[in-house]
Amino acid sequence: MATEVMIEARDLTKYYGDFVGVENINFTIRKGEVVGLLGPNGSGKTTTMRMLTGFMPPSSGTIRVAGHDVIADSLEARRAIGYLPETVPLYTDMTIEDYLEFMGSLRGMSRSYLAKRIDRVVDLCKLGTYRRTHIAKLSKGYRQRVGIAQAILHEPKVLVLDEPTIGIDPIQVVETRQLIKTLGEDHTILLSTHILPEVSMICQRVLIINEGTLIAEDTPANLAHRLRARDRLELEVRGPAAAVLGALRGIKGVTNVTRSGEGEVHTYVVEFTAESDPREAIGQLVLSNGWGLRKLNPLSMSLEEIFLRLTVSEEA
Ligand SMILES: Nc1ncnc2c1ncn2[C@@H]1O[C@H](COP(=O)(O)OP(=O)(O)OP(=O)(O)O)[C@@H](O)[C@H]1O
Ligand SMILES: [Mg+2]
Repeated sequence: MATEVMIEARDLTKYYGDFVGVENINFTIRKGEVVGLLGPNGSGKTTTMRMLTGFMPPSSGTIRVAGHDVIADSLEARRAIGYLPETVPLYTDMTIEDYLEFMGSLRGMSRSYLAKRIDRVVDLCKLGTYRRTHIAKLSKGYRQRVGIAQAILHEPKVLVLDEPTIGIDPIQVVETRQLIKTLGEDHTILLSTHILPEVSMICQRVLIINEGTLIAEDTPANLAHRLRARDRLELEVRGPAAAVLGALRGIKGVTNVTRSGEGEVHTYVVEFTAESDPREAIGQLVLSNGWGLRKLNPLSMSLEEIFLRLTVSEEA
Protein backbone atom coordinates (compact mmCIF):
# COMPACT_ATOMS: atom_id res chain seq x y z
CA MET A 1 0.00 0.00 0.00
CA ALA A 2 1.40 3.39 -0.99
CA THR A 3 1.88 5.72 1.96
CA GLU A 4 -0.17 8.90 2.00
CA VAL A 5 1.43 11.93 0.34
CA MET A 6 1.79 14.75 2.88
CA ILE A 7 3.61 17.42 0.87
CA GLU A 8 3.51 17.69 -2.88
CA ALA A 9 5.27 20.53 -4.68
CA ARG A 10 4.80 20.78 -8.45
CA ASP A 11 6.81 23.13 -10.66
CA LEU A 12 7.24 25.67 -7.87
CA THR A 13 8.75 28.90 -9.11
CA LYS A 14 9.26 32.20 -7.31
CA TYR A 15 10.45 35.41 -8.91
CA TYR A 16 11.57 38.38 -6.86
CA GLY A 17 11.12 41.00 -9.57
CA ASP A 18 13.35 39.73 -12.36
CA PHE A 19 15.40 37.61 -10.00
CA VAL A 20 14.62 33.90 -9.87
CA GLY A 21 14.41 32.83 -6.21
CA VAL A 22 13.51 29.21 -6.96
CA GLU A 23 12.66 27.56 -10.25
CA ASN A 24 10.67 24.46 -11.16
CA ILE A 25 10.95 22.73 -7.80
CA ASN A 26 9.26 19.30 -7.66
CA PHE A 27 9.13 16.92 -4.74
CA THR A 28 6.87 14.59 -2.82
CA ILE A 29 7.07 13.82 0.90
CA ARG A 30 5.14 10.90 2.33
CA LYS A 31 3.60 10.40 5.72
CA GLY A 32 6.13 9.75 8.47
CA GLU A 33 9.18 10.90 6.49
CA VAL A 34 11.79 13.26 7.94
CA VAL A 35 13.33 15.03 4.97
CA GLY A 36 16.18 17.52 4.89
CA LEU A 37 16.33 20.47 2.50
CA LEU A 38 20.06 21.01 2.28
CA GLY A 39 21.64 23.96 0.53
CA PRO A 40 24.17 26.78 0.91
CA ASN A 41 23.22 30.36 1.82
CA GLY A 42 20.87 31.99 -0.64
CA SER A 43 20.01 28.72 -2.38
CA GLY A 44 16.23 29.09 -1.89
CA LYS A 45 15.45 27.09 1.27
CA THR A 46 13.46 29.83 3.02
CA THR A 47 11.74 30.82 -0.23
CA THR A 48 10.57 27.22 -0.71
CA MET A 49 9.36 26.91 2.87
CA ARG A 50 7.48 30.20 2.87
CA MET A 51 5.58 29.00 -0.19
CA LEU A 52 4.88 25.56 1.32
CA THR A 53 3.43 27.12 4.44
CA GLY A 54 1.26 29.59 2.55
CA PHE A 55 3.16 32.66 3.76
CA MET A 56 4.07 33.68 0.24
CA PRO A 57 2.30 32.73 -2.98
CA PRO A 58 4.42 31.08 -5.67
CA SER A 59 4.84 32.89 -8.99
CA SER A 60 3.73 29.62 -10.54
CA GLY A 61 3.26 26.01 -9.56
CA THR A 62 1.14 24.23 -6.96
CA ILE A 63 1.55 22.90 -3.43
CA ARG A 64 -0.66 20.44 -1.60
CA VAL A 65 -0.22 19.74 2.10
CA ALA A 66 -2.13 16.80 3.58
CA GLY A 67 -4.24 16.86 0.43
CA HIS A 68 -5.12 20.58 0.63
CA ASP A 69 -4.02 23.16 -1.91
CA VAL A 70 -2.20 25.83 0.13
CA ILE A 71 -3.71 28.66 -1.90
CA ALA A 72 -7.22 27.48 -2.79
CA ASP A 73 -7.76 25.66 0.48
CA SER A 74 -5.49 27.71 2.71
CA LEU A 75 -7.35 27.34 6.01
CA GLU A 76 -7.32 23.55 5.89
CA ALA A 77 -3.73 23.49 4.67
CA ARG A 78 -2.57 25.77 7.48
CA ARG A 79 -4.33 23.62 10.04
CA ALA A 80 -2.21 20.71 8.85
CA ILE A 81 1.09 22.64 9.04
CA GLY A 82 3.30 23.69 11.90
CA TYR A 83 5.94 26.19 10.82
CA LEU A 84 9.13 27.31 12.49
CA PRO A 85 10.14 30.34 10.41
CA GLU A 86 13.74 31.44 9.92
CA THR A 87 13.11 34.31 12.35
CA VAL A 88 10.40 33.47 14.86
CA PRO A 89 8.14 36.47 15.49
CA LEU A 90 8.19 36.26 19.29
CA TYR A 91 6.58 38.88 21.50
CA THR A 92 9.32 39.46 24.02
CA ASP A 93 7.11 41.16 26.62
CA MET A 94 4.99 38.00 26.91
CA THR A 95 5.79 34.98 29.04
CA ILE A 96 6.09 31.63 27.25
CA GLU A 97 2.66 30.67 28.53
CA ASP A 98 1.04 33.97 27.42
CA TYR A 99 2.62 33.64 24.01
CA LEU A 100 1.43 30.06 23.49
CA GLU A 101 -2.07 31.07 24.64
CA PHE A 102 -2.02 33.93 22.17
CA MET A 103 -0.84 31.71 19.28
CA GLY A 104 -3.44 29.07 20.11
CA SER A 105 -6.30 31.57 20.25
CA LEU A 106 -5.22 32.94 16.85
CA ARG A 107 -5.62 29.41 15.54
CA GLY A 108 -9.09 29.12 17.01
CA MET A 109 -8.22 26.45 19.58
CA SER A 110 -10.75 26.08 22.43
CA ARG A 111 -9.65 27.11 25.95
CA SER A 112 -9.68 23.61 27.38
CA TYR A 113 -7.91 22.03 24.39
CA LEU A 114 -5.36 24.85 24.40
CA ALA A 115 -4.65 24.46 28.13
CA LYS A 116 -4.05 20.75 27.62
CA ARG A 117 -1.82 21.32 24.61
CA ILE A 118 0.25 24.04 26.34
CA ASP A 119 1.04 21.58 29.15
CA ARG A 120 2.02 18.99 26.57
CA VAL A 121 4.28 21.18 24.38
CA VAL A 122 5.94 22.86 27.38
CA ASP A 123 6.78 19.38 28.57
CA LEU A 124 7.96 18.07 25.17
CA CYS A 125 10.13 21.13 24.50
CA LYS A 126 11.48 21.12 28.08
CA LEU A 127 10.29 24.65 28.80
CA GLY A 128 8.76 23.93 32.19
CA THR A 129 11.26 25.94 34.26
CA TYR A 130 10.68 29.06 32.15
CA ARG A 131 6.96 28.73 31.58
CA ARG A 132 6.25 32.06 33.32
CA THR A 133 9.45 33.80 32.24
CA HIS A 134 9.31 36.72 29.82
CA ILE A 135 10.59 35.75 26.38
CA ALA A 136 12.93 38.77 26.48
CA LYS A 137 14.98 36.97 29.15
CA LEU A 138 15.40 33.70 27.26
CA SER A 139 18.56 32.56 25.48
CA LYS A 140 18.51 32.01 21.71
CA GLY A 141 18.25 28.25 22.21
CA TYR A 142 15.22 28.59 24.47
CA ARG A 143 13.56 31.03 22.09
CA GLN A 144 14.04 28.48 19.35
CA ARG A 145 12.28 25.91 21.54
CA VAL A 146 9.39 28.32 22.04
CA GLY A 147 9.30 28.58 18.24
CA ILE A 148 9.04 24.80 17.97
CA ALA A 149 6.44 24.71 20.77
CA GLN A 150 4.16 27.11 18.86
CA ALA A 151 4.70 25.12 15.66
CA ILE A 152 3.37 21.89 17.22
CA LEU A 153 0.71 23.49 19.41
CA HIS A 154 -2.32 22.69 17.21
CA GLU A 155 -1.15 19.11 16.53
CA PRO A 156 -0.31 19.59 12.86
CA LYS A 157 0.47 16.52 10.77
CA VAL A 158 3.30 18.27 8.94
CA LEU A 159 6.18 20.30 10.40
CA VAL A 160 8.22 22.72 8.33
CA LEU A 161 11.31 23.81 10.24
CA ASP A 162 13.59 26.47 8.73
CA GLU A 163 17.14 25.96 10.07
CA PRO A 164 16.01 24.86 13.52
CA THR A 165 19.55 24.65 14.94
CA ILE A 166 21.09 27.80 13.51
CA GLY A 167 22.76 30.19 15.94
CA ILE A 168 22.30 28.17 19.11
CA ASP A 169 25.02 26.77 21.36
CA PRO A 170 26.33 23.20 20.83
CA ILE A 171 24.57 21.64 23.82
CA GLN A 172 21.24 23.08 22.76
CA VAL A 173 21.90 21.93 19.18
CA VAL A 174 22.14 18.35 20.44
CA GLU A 175 18.92 18.74 22.44
CA THR A 176 17.06 20.37 19.57
CA ARG A 177 18.08 17.55 17.20
CA GLN A 178 16.86 15.03 19.76
CA LEU A 179 13.56 16.88 20.02
CA ILE A 180 13.16 16.84 16.23
CA LYS A 181 13.86 13.09 16.17
CA THR A 182 11.16 12.59 18.79
CA LEU A 183 8.73 14.76 16.83
CA GLY A 184 9.58 12.72 13.74
CA GLU A 185 7.99 9.68 15.34
CA ASP A 186 4.51 11.11 14.83
CA HIS A 187 4.93 13.96 12.36
CA THR A 188 6.01 14.33 8.77
CA ILE A 189 8.91 16.79 8.80
CA LEU A 190 10.70 18.95 6.27
CA LEU A 191 13.63 20.79 7.80
CA SER A 192 16.20 23.01 6.15
CA THR A 193 19.86 23.15 7.01
CA HIS A 194 23.21 24.03 5.51
CA ILE A 195 25.00 21.58 7.81
CA LEU A 196 25.86 18.34 6.05
CA PRO A 197 26.24 16.10 9.15
CA GLU A 198 22.93 17.34 10.51
CA VAL A 199 20.94 15.67 7.72
CA SER A 200 22.66 12.34 8.34
CA MET A 201 21.76 12.61 12.01
CA ILE A 202 18.10 13.52 11.62
CA CYS A 203 16.84 12.78 8.11
CA GLN A 204 15.96 9.69 6.13
CA ARG A 205 16.06 11.54 2.84
CA VAL A 206 17.73 14.69 1.54
CA LEU A 207 16.77 17.18 -1.12
CA ILE A 208 19.71 19.29 -2.24
CA ILE A 209 18.99 22.78 -3.46
CA ASN A 210 21.43 25.12 -5.13
CA GLU A 211 20.80 28.45 -6.82
CA GLY A 212 17.06 27.89 -6.66
CA THR A 213 17.06 24.45 -8.27
CA LEU A 214 16.81 20.96 -6.78
CA ILE A 215 19.93 19.18 -7.97
CA ALA A 216 19.84 15.86 -6.11
CA GLU A 217 17.64 13.72 -3.95
CA ASP A 218 18.77 10.64 -2.06
CA THR A 219 19.39 9.07 1.33
CA PRO A 220 22.24 10.66 3.32
CA ALA A 221 24.25 7.42 3.04
CA ASN A 222 23.88 7.21 -0.74
CA LEU A 223 24.83 10.84 -1.18
CA ALA A 224 28.00 10.33 0.83
CA HIS A 225 28.78 7.29 -1.31
CA ARG A 226 28.15 9.14 -4.58
CA LEU A 227 30.54 11.85 -3.47
CA ARG A 228 33.26 9.38 -2.57
CA ALA A 229 32.98 7.75 -5.97
CA ARG A 230 33.61 11.05 -7.70
CA ASP A 231 37.28 11.69 -6.98
CA ARG A 232 38.94 12.45 -10.27
CA LEU A 233 42.07 14.09 -11.59
CA GLU A 234 42.63 15.72 -14.95
CA LEU A 235 46.16 15.55 -16.37
CA GLU A 236 47.92 16.67 -19.50
CA VAL A 237 50.89 14.49 -20.37
CA ARG A 238 53.36 14.76 -23.23
CA GLY A 239 54.32 11.24 -24.26
CA PRO A 240 53.21 8.17 -26.24
CA ALA A 241 49.49 7.87 -25.56
CA ALA A 242 49.14 4.10 -25.34
CA ALA A 243 52.11 3.74 -22.98
CA VAL A 244 50.97 6.63 -20.77
CA LEU A 245 47.45 5.20 -20.59
CA GLY A 246 48.71 1.73 -19.66
CA ALA A 247 51.07 3.08 -17.01
CA LEU A 248 48.39 5.28 -15.42
CA ARG A 249 46.02 2.32 -15.23
CA GLY A 250 48.70 0.37 -13.38
CA ILE A 251 48.92 2.85 -10.48
CA LYS A 252 47.60 1.55 -7.17
CA GLY A 253 44.12 2.87 -6.31
CA VAL A 254 43.33 4.02 -9.87
CA THR A 255 39.98 2.61 -11.01
CA ASN A 256 39.60 4.11 -14.48
CA VAL A 257 41.48 6.29 -16.97
CA THR A 258 40.12 7.94 -20.10
CA ARG A 259 42.10 9.80 -22.73
CA SER A 260 41.29 12.59 -25.18
CA GLY A 261 43.17 14.93 -27.50
CA GLU A 262 45.48 14.71 -30.51
CA GLY A 263 49.21 14.97 -31.20
CA GLU A 264 51.97 14.86 -28.59
CA VAL A 265 50.07 16.07 -25.55
CA HIS A 266 46.96 14.20 -24.41
CA THR A 267 44.43 14.84 -21.67
CA TYR A 268 43.71 12.00 -19.23
CA VAL A 269 40.97 11.78 -16.64
CA VAL A 270 41.97 9.50 -13.77
CA GLU A 271 39.41 8.11 -11.34
CA PHE A 272 40.56 6.57 -8.09
CA THR A 273 39.22 5.12 -4.87
CA ALA A 274 38.39 7.30 -1.89
CA GLU A 275 41.21 5.85 0.20
CA SER A 276 43.95 6.57 -2.33
CA ASP A 277 45.68 9.69 -3.59
CA PRO A 278 47.65 8.81 -6.75
CA ARG A 279 49.05 12.31 -7.39
CA GLU A 280 52.63 11.64 -6.27
CA ALA A 281 52.75 8.26 -8.02
CA ILE A 282 51.63 9.97 -11.24
CA GLY A 283 54.36 12.59 -10.91
CA GLN A 284 57.06 9.95 -10.39
CA LEU A 285 55.76 7.79 -13.22
CA VAL A 286 55.83 10.60 -15.74
CA LEU A 287 59.27 11.74 -14.61
CA SER A 288 60.86 8.27 -14.64
CA ASN A 289 59.65 7.66 -18.19
CA GLY A 290 60.96 10.98 -19.45
CA TRP A 291 57.46 12.21 -20.36
CA GLY A 292 56.20 15.71 -19.56
CA LEU A 293 53.53 16.57 -16.99
CA ARG A 294 51.79 19.71 -18.20
CA LYS A 295 48.84 19.80 -15.84
CA LEU A 296 47.42 17.95 -12.83
CA ASN A 297 44.10 19.22 -11.46
CA PRO A 298 41.41 17.75 -9.26
CA LEU A 299 38.18 17.63 -11.26
CA SER A 300 35.21 18.44 -9.11
CA MET A 301 31.69 17.58 -10.04
CA SER A 302 29.03 20.18 -9.48
CA LEU A 303 27.50 18.24 -6.60
CA GLU A 304 30.88 18.06 -4.93
CA GLU A 305 31.44 21.77 -5.31
CA ILE A 306 28.14 22.44 -3.65
CA PHE A 307 29.00 20.15 -0.79
CA LEU A 308 32.23 22.05 -0.36
CA ARG A 309 30.25 25.23 0.09
CA LEU A 310 28.07 23.60 2.72
CA THR A 311 29.18 23.58 6.31
CA VAL A 312 30.81 20.22 6.65
CA SER A 313 31.94 20.61 10.23
CA GLU A 314 30.11 21.48 13.40
CA GLU A 315 32.43 24.35 14.32
CA ALA A 316 31.69 26.56 11.35
N1 LIG B 1 12.19 39.31 -0.37
C1 LIG B 1 13.17 39.09 -1.26
N2 LIG B 1 13.41 39.98 -2.26
C2 LIG B 1 14.38 39.75 -3.18
N3 LIG B 1 15.19 38.69 -3.19
C3 LIG B 1 15.02 37.78 -2.21
C4 LIG B 1 14.00 37.93 -1.20
N4 LIG B 1 14.07 36.87 -0.37
C5 LIG B 1 15.08 36.09 -0.85
N5 LIG B 1 15.63 36.63 -1.95
C6 LIG B 1 16.74 36.05 -2.74
O1 LIG B 1 16.35 34.76 -3.16
C7 LIG B 1 17.43 33.84 -3.04
C8 LIG B 1 17.03 32.70 -2.15
O2 LIG B 1 16.87 33.21 -0.82
P1 LIG B 1 16.44 32.31 0.39
O3 LIG B 1 16.28 33.21 1.56
O4 LIG B 1 15.29 31.48 0.00
O5 LIG B 1 17.73 31.38 0.57
P2 LIG B 1 18.13 30.40 1.76
O6 LIG B 1 18.54 29.13 1.14
O7 LIG B 1 17.04 30.36 2.78
O8 LIG B 1 19.42 31.12 2.36
P3 LIG B 1 19.99 31.15 3.87
O9 LIG B 1 20.77 29.87 4.06
O10 LIG B 1 20.91 32.33 3.86
O11 LIG B 1 18.84 31.30 4.81
C9 LIG B 1 18.61 34.63 -2.52
O12 LIG B 1 19.42 35.00 -3.61
C10 LIG B 1 17.98 35.84 -1.87
O13 LIG B 1 18.84 36.96 -1.93
MG1 LIG C 1 16.97 30.82 4.75
